[in-house]
Amino acid sequence: MSSGILTIPSTAAYAAPPRNGAGLPSNGAAFRVEAVDFAYDGTHPMFRSLALSARPGEFVALLGPSGCGKTTLLNLLSGFLPPSSGRITIDGETVTPEMPALGYVFQSPQLFPWLDVLDNVRFGLRMAGRLPEAEQRDKALAALALVGLEAAAGKFPHQLSGGMQQRVALARALVLEPRLLLMDEPFAALDAITRATLNEELLRLCGRLGQTVLFITHDVEEAVFLADRVVLLDIAPAGIHSELAIDLPRPRRLRETRRLERFTTLTDTLLERISAIVGAA
Ligand SMILES: Nc1ncnc2c1ncn2[C@@H]1O[C@H](COP(=O)(O)OP(=O)(O)OP(=O)(O)O)[C@@H](O)[C@H]1O
Ligand SMILES: [Mg+2]
Repeated sequence: MSSGILTIPSTAAYAAPPRNGAGLPSNGAAFRVEAVDFAYDGTHPMFRSLALSARPGEFVALLGPSGCGKTTLLNLLSGFLPPSSGRITIDGETVTPEMPALGYVFQSPQLFPWLDVLDNVRFGLRMAGRLPEAEQRDKALAALALVGLEAAAGKFPHQLSGGMQQRVALARALVLEPRLLLMDEPFAALDAITRATLNEELLRLCGRLGQTVLFITHDVEEAVFLADRVVLLDIAPAGIHSELAIDLPRPRRLRETRRLERFTTLTDTLLERISAIVGAA
């Protein structure tokens, strides 16, 4: 299952993943949500017969009004919540929280304040207990190198900026070599410049590591900049409102991409759809 991409602590050592016929990196996992019903209290449905899937290496952004169930959907996909009925699979296997293919990045970094950066990143490997300590350390340093933070390995979270902390959270997910990365508004609390920089870094990393990503955001421009496809959720229990393929070049999407006419057309289309959802509520 593991691609072994984090075995050598040097950024130069990472080869680009092989690409499949569709031009997508091929070491990501496919996920499939089929006919899923879910209700927190067993009576008020949040999802009814929900269906959503992604191809290996695809970057899917999930947009929708507050409270429509985006985080709930991520928790279902990660196996933290069981569906009332239906099936959720990753590469054909029913999902469980222990699945090694999964990485999760939350809205806030949620680092352990008493551990230094290296030990925060190493934490998941230590818990899994499958690797010798030296190898855990090498992998954690390699993950920190991926996010440009090797020099901060010995620092503690309170010594880092918000953007750096979110990078550490990303490294903590990447160190597990996830083939599916679930991200819940990971950059929402950051200033616009840091956010734009991290958007570009994330695209660079995804181009290199090739994982499948499901990325929740409220920011239409962020969704269009990052994704291959945007999925719009409707007010619960309506499920998916619509999808929009993002036909912009990837992975070489740079800051100037946001100034393209096509970029504006796509963001306008999504804004109109969101207004329709909110207006109809
Ligand atoms: N553990 C829980 N128990 C009961 N209800 C919950 C629980 N978690 C969320 N909910 C409810 O489910 C609905 C969807 O919540 P969810 O967090 O998935 O929304 P969201 O789309 O992520 O919203 P936001 O954009 O504000 O983050 C909300 O009405 C929320 O109050
Ligand atoms: Mg949420």
